[in-house]
Amino acid sequence: MMQPLSEPTIQPRLLYVQTFGCQMNEYDSTRVRGMFLNRGYELTSDIDLADVIFLNTCSVREKAEQKVHSFLGRLRRTKARNPELKILVAGCMAQHFGERLLERFEHLDLVLGTRSLGALPGLLENLQKSPTRLVYLVEDEGISDGAPQFSSAVSPGISAPVTIMQGCNNFCSYCIVPYVRGRECSRPSEEILKEIRFLAANGKREILLLGQNVNSYGTHSGESLTFVDLLRAIQEQIPLARLRFITSHPKDLTDDLMECFTQLDCLCQHLHLPVQAGSDRILKLMNRGYAALDYLKKIERLRHICPDIGLSSDVMVGFPGESERDFQDTLDLLERVRFDTVFSFRYSDRPHAKATQFPNKVAEALKARRLVELQALQAKITLQKNQAEVGRFREILVEGPSKSGNGQLTGRTQQNRVTNFECPGGCIGQLVPVKIIGAFSHSLKGQLINEPV
Ligand code: SAH
Ligand code: SF4
Ligand code: F3S
Repeated sequence: MMQPLSEPTIQPRLLYVQTFGCQMNEYDSTRVRGMFLNRGYELTSDIDLADVIFLNTCSVREKAEQKVHSFLGRLRRTKARNPELKILVAGCMAQHFGERLLERFEHLDLVLGTRSLGALPGLLENLQKSPTRLVYLVEDEGISDGAPQFSSAVSPGISAPVTIMQGCNNFCSYCIVPYVRGRECSRPSEEILKEIRFLAANGKREILLLGQNVNSYGTHSGESLTFVDLLRAIQEQIPLARLRFITSHPKDLTDDLMECFTQLDCLCQHLHLPVQAGSDRILKLMNRGYAALDYLKKIERLRHICPDIGLSSDVMVGFPGESERDFQDTLDLLERVRFDTVFSFRYSDRPHAKATQFPNKVAEALKARRLVELQALQAKITLQKNQAEVGRFREILVEGPSKSGNGQLTGRTQQNRVTNFECPGGCIGQLVPVKIIGAFSHSLKGQLINEPV
């Protein structure tokens, strides 16, 4: 018997994506996945099978860059095994290093700046036709990157990030972001609302609004809505279980915004408010625009308006000239505020940033010691605050199976505490009432209850 002729099958090309850095990079990587899926690519998690590797990079600290450098180095062998492979590097390191990345890593094909994502598909097509190596950077600051803002490539999970503004105008003296991401530029509110509507219609229950300085949304553009207006519009127009945002700058935190935490049902009672340091002298050198007391007063006001608010922060040790006294001021501030969580970093010099030229650099060993001390103090506070949750009733948005793999589900309280609990039915994506029955360093244990919280 004759065998039926099989149709020739065209193997789809495979894309591997690796993202470093902040959630804005995660968001951009999702957009890139969308652009490739729309062009018939499929995603792979096996780097050796990839036809295209897309790396989204971060420059914010020296350590972040080192991670990318070693990853790029490892790709040399991957490319040697598969010479057809195209390696594309985007994000903040690409914007900063440009041509120099191509020179140092001879296996890279394309270096793409932070305002150039829209050019990606066209550039890739050209690369695949004629194998050249390219750098594509847009120097013009304050313009959109021209890539579609969202696509059908909705990533898994019940939460989705939405970038509402790019860039930063604050020029904190230690920070590279204004140089690699350009000036503050807000997306039109109609576009943001449209995107959130789309995500909600596709099963997303929680939206995380992103920007380096979300409080000043709308200030430097033709946008007529302020950040508070935008939050209110989302609450009024879109049925979401939860809304969150990062990052806020203390100098722009208004009473109006504080009141949203009690007035808007969907807005989670949690605020990430980086303080960076507790010493006025250091805060001034950092060009942060507030003194420690201003910060403490805002926290007091916020807790007056919304007593149950969860608070997290970013803190740095070893800024140039930081004395033992200055460091002690930071520890004192942590003791006074008692944040739920703190992300802490060792200061590192960054290209362009003013502090790189400052005298009296702190020795690495001293920075390391201070970081250990600060983290020990904060770990104690975090645990105490978690323990104070035991016995309370909290509402959890259920995200999925817990990492422990013991059949429990995981989710977060409004205050952003990870909580694991047993749940018989499929309640992923739902808000469920839970009683907190245990506390650990990084999570809580809950018990599902029947009454509403
Ligand atoms: N826009 C946000 C966060 C920007 S980057 C803000 O204004 O706070 C995230 C964190 O990285 C910062 O809050 C800061 O704590 C840290 N960071 C930035 N530059 C750094 C540097 N040169 N050395 C060490 N930490 C740095
Ligand atoms: Fe960097 Fe300061 Fe802008 Fe944050 S506010 S991105 S720390 S310059
Ligand atoms: Fe890093 Fe750029 Fe984000 S430097 S933190 S990826 S804006």
